[in-house]
Amino acid sequence: MGYKVAVVGATGNVGREMLGILAERSFPADEVVALASRRSLGTECTFGDRTLKVKALEHYDFADVDICLMSAGGAVSKEWSPRIAAKGAVVIDNSSAWRMDPDVPLVVPEVNADAVAGFAKKNIIANPNCSTAQLVVALKPLHDRAKIKRVVVATYQSVSGAGKDAMDELFSQTKAVFTLDEVQTKKFSKRIAFNVIPHIDTFMEDGSTREEWKMMMETKKILDPKIKLTATCVRVPVFVGHSEAVNIEFENPITADEAREILRAAPGCLVIDKREDGGYVTPYESVGEDATYISRIREDATVDNGLSLWVVSDNLRKGAALNAIQIGETLINRKLIQAKKKAA
Ligand SMILES: NC(=O)c1ccc[n+]([C@@H]2O[C@H](COP(=O)([O-])OP(=O)(O)OC[C@H]3O[C@@H](n4cnc5c(N)ncnc54)[C@H](OP(=O)(O)O)[C@@H]3O)[C@@H](O)[C@H]2O)c1
Repeated sequence: MGYKVAVVGATGNVGREMLGILAERSFPADEVVALASRRSLGTECTFGDRTLKVKALEHYDFADVDICLMSAGGAVSKEWSPRIAAKGAVVIDNSSAWRMDPDVPLVVPEVNADAVAGFAKKNIIANPNCSTAQLVVALKPLHDRAKIKRVVVATYQSVSGAGKDAMDELFSQTKAVFTLDEVQTKKFSKRIAFNVIPHIDTFMEDGSTREEWKMMMETKKILDPKIKLTATCVRVPVFVGHSEAVNIEFENPITADEAREILRAAPGCLVIDKREDGGYVTPYESVGEDATYISRIREDATVDNGLSLWVVSDNLRKGAALNAIQIGETLINRKLIQAKKKAA
């Protein structure tokens, strides 16, 4: 007998991807329920070759749910995750609500799978921000070899990272430009079509944005608190797939050839690095894929033990849905949870 899995936010960008990945990976679920807001009550979601009718979160009884994949934003998670967890379901949350809570593990299975065991304090496990997830998958094997001191990263983040309304805004603005209509801006602070915006999430007192702060804090929590990281997070007019230009300073020597070999063998990484036209990965090619792609690996001669890389991944998969489902698989494979029906 398998598990009962609830997907909260099933009509959203991440939730839809979760349903797809649960089916693709034959997740050991006997039953999957799709939940969203009251607005979506009765609408349909695809789950493999089946269709699920969406139910409303506020009226749902989680008593027999084993795993709840939560992807409905921070405010919904703050209110609902503790209630769902109190019913005995393990909540794997995609929002930023619980990531820095010391009693909640923040997990990327390729990097810190052992941390999953700490879920029992609150019955909640946090999934990192999309830009952090792909970054730490690439950093971990290099850190193990040569010890990272400092990382400087600039991100090129797709609009799907800001939800389905943001994707609609890029589409409608692009159309408006071609049809000479007025370009309307709602979700983003400036026009995103044919533009880039150096601002994601809210501004903090020191001038950085919360997205940049999250990358720094989450990398420390997942990988190593000693790593110094500074980020500039930029929204670009790409629908799906986040890219990152990453500069790393190590304590110990490491060559580009060594880094390429290490990354080729590392879990979750796929190196595409030919020093020729097109010998690298772009976000468009990462769509629908599970890997974190690494290209443009080269030495940075301006510092001791420096490397630069280009890191690309599908933000809705490794950055969100896939990582959450891998956490669920880790819980099951390590026998940290048991299906309630089986236990009864
Ligand atoms: N997109 C990414 O790359 C990414 C990566 C990492 C983490 N995340 C996080 O994942 C979460 C979801 O992101 P998304 O991109 O999927 O957003 P989205 O496309 O805007 O979808 C939001 C989902 O939340 C549901 N929802 C909103 N209010 C609700 C409520 N009161 N009760 C129940 N359900 C409610 C929506 O249901 P309705 O359709 O009924 O409104 C929808 O299913 C966010 O916390 C985001 O920060 C996203």
